Amino acid sequence: FLVDKGNFHHFMQKEIHEQPEVISHTLANYLDFTTGTAKPIELPFDFAKIDRLSISACGTAYLAGLIGKYWFERLARLPVDIDVASEFRYREMPISPDSAALFISQSGETADTLASLRYCRKAGVPITAIVNVRESTIARESDAIFPTLAGPEIGVASTKAFTCQLAVLASLAVRAARARGHVDAKQEQALVRQLSETPRIASQVLKLAEQIEKVSRQLAKVKNVLYLGRDTNYPLAMEGALKLKEISYIHAEGYAAGELKHGPIALIDEKMPVIVIAPHDRIFEKTVSNMQEVAARGGKIILITDQKGAAQTSLQTMETIVLPDVPEIITPIVYALPIQMLAYYTAVFMGTDVDQPRNLAKSVTVE
Ligand code: AGP
Repeated sequence: FLVDKGNFHHFMQKEIHEQPEVISHTLANYLDFTTGTAKPIELPFDFAKIDRLSISACGTAYLAGLIGKYWFERLARLPVDIDVASEFRYREMPISPDSAALFISQSGETADTLASLRYCRKAGVPITAIVNVRESTIARESDAIFPTLAGPEIGVASTKAFTCQLAVLASLAVRAARARGHVDAKQEQALVRQLSETPRIASQVLKLAEQIEKVSRQLAKVKNVLYLGRDTNYPLAMEGALKLKEISYIHAEGYAAGELKHGPIALIDEKMPVIVIAPHDRIFEKTVSNMQEVAARGGKIILITDQKGAAQTSLQTMETIVLPDVPEIITPIVYALPIQMLAYYTAVFMGTDVDQPRNLAKSVTVE
């Protein structure tokens, strides 16, 4: 059906701004806000009985899965194996008969993800998928699907599909945590209430567009960018780097902040902007010491943090982007927005074809 850009300059910009609404629809599909519970869903397995979950996906969908791993392991104590699908399908790993498989794909047509699905089918484990296109091949070949209600995503760079994938993963993790007895009814209610806050907070974060556009003007002048984060913000750092590479063609790398001194610190000089995703969490201080290492070498820091984080650092930054203080479970969803906007405005300043970047296809149906 007909999809247009409305009042936006690009589909990507429109899709970034649609996020409060589509995240809200997606969460409402999996969570009951009145009772504060994860809704019962038909599953081809029992969360309480499986010993592992294998996740496989490509690109941004893989990075969503990586964040999901933190949630499933932390909240539900469910071990997760995760791989990019192009490795998963050839890795010849043993698959436990008591495990389940989860594939994540916006299009539902990605060749490597589909091949991984078929590999698991042969192994005889239950197959589930998070898809945005319900009529897709991956959806058809799964035993159960968890749809993202993102609506059609036209921009090649995935934005709203990613945050909706995260919304589904967080909801499933809450469900799994309850089923496995690792959260009680009260804790479940608290998590559901925290998740229900996401759309409202995401709308507030979109108001930072002007500040982010201003920083992006500077980013558009550089050749390399390093993105750092810890915990769920580590995969998000990789997602930030992927977005920049895809649409602005700036070389960017996402690293776990703790890995800085194991190599990438050698790259730091006054020409290297370092974007640090650091909400004020229990490992915030560790990230601050990484930022000190960057600052001591002349690196220019763009810090994305919250009010508490901003109040507690006296570091000189090139820019500090201050988000509202949010509960831990929703940080990766909320912090996805500024990194998407940074890539978007940088690409606009570079004058690239934002919605259809060179060499890329929306859905990669060949190996
Ligand atoms: C995201 O910005 C990319 N264009 C790409 O990494 C994408 O996420 C990947 O190709 C997977 O696509 P899928 O979700 O349709 O399977």
